[in-house]
Amino acid sequence: MDARIIQFPKISDPRGNLSFLEHPSQIPFQIKRVYWVYDVPGGEIRGSHSYKSLHEVIIALSGSFDVVLHDGKTEKKWQLNRSYFGLYVPNMIWRTIENFSTNALCLIVASEEYNEKDYIRSFPDFESMVNERTK
Ligand code: TYD
Repeated sequence: MDARIIQFPKISDPRGNLSFLEHPSQIPFQIKRVYWVYDVPGGEIRGSHSYKSLHEVIIALSGSFDVVLHDGKTEKKWQLNRSYFGLYVPNMIWRTIENFSTNALCLIVASEEYNEKDYIRSFPDFESMVNERTK
């Protein structure tokens, strides 16, 4: 699975720390959109889908949550709980965000504008598309 953790610069300062991200130094794609998920009630699950072509980096700006990734064969779970780490998720990976802590703030940096046609929202459809590609 090509997903990986990206570490952002951290400028430690007694007045408060500062981190940042830029393309191409930290983000391996041109950034077209940034959105965030917040006020998630305990136990709720977000983002259970895949994208045909969108790449993204998922960051826990505040609090913590788990990102569960499935590439059609194996599943892997990442716990994000630091604002200076991001999880890079390529296209054609099924991704679910769950186990949100109170006050969790999930920032997503994306390679594409919002386009419902790029979504794969059924896991069986995702599996058959992955199998088709790896034939
Ligand atoms: P969606 O990505 O489907 O999130 P989830 O899988 O967690 O439900 O987004 C939920 C809705 O928000 C979607 O139906 C359309 C809207 N939306 C936008 O209009 N623009 C955006 O950039 C995003 C991410 C979502």
